[in-house]
Amino acid sequence: MTAFTLDGRTALVTGASRGIGRAIAVALAAQGAAVALGGRDLDALEETRAAIGADNAVVVPADVTDPAAIREMVSTAIGALGHLDIVVNNAGGNTFSVPFDAMRPDGWDKVLRLNLDSVVEVCRTVAPHLLGRGSGSVINVASVSALVAMPGMSHYAAAKAAVVSLSRSLAVEWAGQGVRCNALVPGWVATDLTDFARADPKLERYLIGRVPMGRWATPEEIAGPAVFLAADASAFVTGHTLVVDGGLTVG
Ligand SMILES: NC(=O)c1ccc[n+]([C@@H]2O[C@H](COP(=O)([O-])OP(=O)(O)OC[C@H]3O[C@@H](n4cnc5c(N)ncnc54)[C@H](OP(=O)(O)O)[C@@H]3O)[C@@H](O)[C@H]2O)c1
Repeated sequence: MTAFTLDGRTALVTGASRGIGRAIAVALAAQGAAVALGGRDLDALEETRAAIGADNAVVVPADVTDPAAIREMVSTAIGALGHLDIVVNNAGGNTFSVPFDAMRPDGWDKVLRLNLDSVVEVCRTVAPHLLGRGSGSVINVASVSALVAMPGMSHYAAAKAAVVSLSRSLAVEWAGQGVRCNALVPGWVATDLTDFARADPKLERYLIGRVPMGRWATPEEIAGPAVFLAADASAFVTGHTLVVDGGLTVG
């Protein structure tokens, strides 16, 4: 079906070195897009590039917690690919769990910087380019943590909820100028980020026991919905929160 093709399109994917971002980059390229791969781990980014095919991918290293590095990443991506049609803000994650009353301010700030400020900064940087061209699809990867209570992870959940909210506001601000913006909300996905949960049978049972489909998602199962949001198949979809969670948040 042609509505899903990305022939001739270009994309920037942050956090493309592994996990969900890598799967999204590979899936966008499989539909025909040329892809700029963001991240910090150069070797892993080169592996993603090799998986796609060197002709259709370029590595644009950046730490997304550094606004200057983001500006460099975006301008290198535009320079290499000519322009950008699709921007996937995927880089993110969280490495610690702590009750809110014991949370140190610098811990809170660190998680907000990675999961929210980075998305704000990429959106701020690409906006003039996309709005100037009068087209584009921005996909912000949030989490089911944005939609349900996350005891011990109030920092991460608040950041992801803000990403969902930001995506809605940008969608409305940009709708008249041809640029779409949607939030993509994964449930529990088997990646490095969730290795700690698979290493703890009790925690894994708790998490997966609440998923009606009864299993972890694969990164590729998040990539298909990302292709939908990137392609003309979703031409009239903006400000949407696309939840891909095996039924977790409706159960
Ligand atoms: N796995 C899940 O269950 C799940 C559920 C809901 C939402 N999510 C969200 O989905 C996204 C991807 O998660 P994942 O599970 O694929 O995690 P992952 O396997 O840990 O991969 C995280 C990616 O983000 C990049 N990244 C991390 N910090 C970065 C930084 N400071 N600058 C640039 N890139 C950075 C990493 O690249 P480098 O190490 O090369 O920098 C890596 O490519 C995240 O936003 C996460 O919050 C995940």
